[in-house]
Amino acid sequence: MVEAQITVNGEETPISPAAPHTTVLDFLRERGLTGTKEGCAEGECGACSVLVARPGVDKPTDWVAVNACLVPVAALDGQEVITSEGLAAEGEPGTPPALHPVQEEMAVRGGSQCGYCTPGFICSMAAEYYRPGRCAHAEQEQEQGPAENADAEHGPNGFDLHSLSGNLCRCTGYRPIRDAAYAVGLPTDEDPLAQRRDQSPPVPVATEYARDDRVFLRRNTLAETLHELRERADAIVVAGSTDWGVEVNIRSRRADCVIAVDRLAEMRELRVEPDYLEIGAALTLTEIERRLDGDVPLLAELFPQFASRLIRNGATLGGNLGTGSPIGDSPPALLALEASLVLADADGERVVPLAEYFTGYRQSVRRRDELIRAVRIPLPLSPVVAFHKIAKRRFDDISSVAVAFALDIEDGIVRKACIGLGGVAATPIRALTTEAALVGKSWTEETVAGAASVLQAEGTPMNDHRASADYRSAMLGQSLLKLYAQTTEAVSS
Ligand code: FES
Ligand code: FES
Repeated sequence: MVEAQITVNGEETPISPAAPHTTVLDFLRERGLTGTKEGCAEGECGACSVLVARPGVDKPTDWVAVNACLVPVAALDGQEVITSEGLAAEGEPGTPPALHPVQEEMAVRGGSQCGYCTPGFICSMAAEYYRPGRCAHAEQEQEQGPAENADAEHGPNGFDLHSLSGNLCRCTGYRPIRDAAYAVGLPTDEDPLAQRRDQSPPVPVATEYARDDRVFLRRNTLAETLHELRERADAIVVAGSTDWGVEVNIRSRRADCVIAVDRLAEMRELRVEPDYLEIGAALTLTEIERRLDGDVPLLAELFPQFASRLIRNGATLGGNLGTGSPIGDSPPALLALEASLVLADADGERVVPLAEYFTGYRQSVRRRDELIRAVRIPLPLSPVVAFHKIAKRRFDDISSVAVAFALDIEDGIVRKACIGLGGVAATPIRALTTEAALVGKSWTEETVAGAASVLQAEGTPMNDHRASADYRSAMLGQSLLKLYAQTTEAVSS
């Protein structure tokens, strides 16, 4: 096997002697690239944001911003990384590098004070600067005048403010940063990172990176990975590492064996069959969001509320379901969509309804030699949907309670109701009693008020530092009332 290496700012750099658990952040800083900062080391501040070349949605390659503090450097074997230092163009001999257009706008619009968060903002902003969908929007603006769909969260240049949702600044204030974001133009034809998007992405390489009795493994195929998993009782499986990175940094966990599945082609397909949609468990949430482009409205509501863009650029449905967290945001939505999981092992596959998957706190029917290969969502979809996340912050926060609805209402009668709940029991659950209280009834204020009381009593919510049990119960009831208000507003408007 060839020596593990990554290309950093165009330079091939051996990963050795880093440990298998060394993060990209530590790896870069130890090599002098100290623009990449550590703020929280758990994916919440974005100070460590860097760009990674990934398979593109609209072009062969996308520049994707990720949290360098969460990703093991061994996971980027054979991949390309750009840091804030690598964005600036080389100047004439004896002159400083020329600022990247994003850096220029941040500087002239006062988007930086102490500067600690700035390189992270710059990298997240640069990823959005190069996003083909934004560029198309900016081109339209240049040709036809200000584009019409600028709103509170999108600039006239198509800049999606959510691309910065994982970056925190404690001293500048966000307005100058937003000004900079909304002022960036289009990449020039000579821009090497813009040109890079037209070439194929780096191919995934098999990796066996071992140091001090610990190993990071990436196999070429799903079959090889499943055989490895059967042999290794101690293995931790990672995709975007957004959970594992926190375990490593905050809880100092060190696994003897980490197996990466995020580049496995068999887990990265998205296909539509006549009666179901199958989403590969290793597609990132950003990839799913952009590839579905609103075709599953409940997921389209969920994604902007799921952590931050930086996390969604790495996180996968397989990871969110695999950890079995009772407060993961995807299970309530997938329960409401009546999803099933395709579980694969070295001998074959089985399909398990998500409603039967969780068996206890962070426990499931998945055996340790099985992987979630894909998530299946039955078609057709119910038309009345909503995802209500109750949390202390609007974005980039953990749910106190999450409620997902998928209802069929025909001629004013509820024909079908599926309600998924998170944060009110040891596992995500379906609100079966409430569903029964709705089906066959008229979709009226009276029915909904009665069902809201039933919903309030679903689950066994706890008191903890995020919310009290009473608050959680109250929010369940309110959530159904809110859905009713939303549907009747939609009808009357
Ligand atoms: Fe805060 Fe990485 S250091 S997100
Ligand atoms: Fe100081 Fe953002 S400029 S934290």
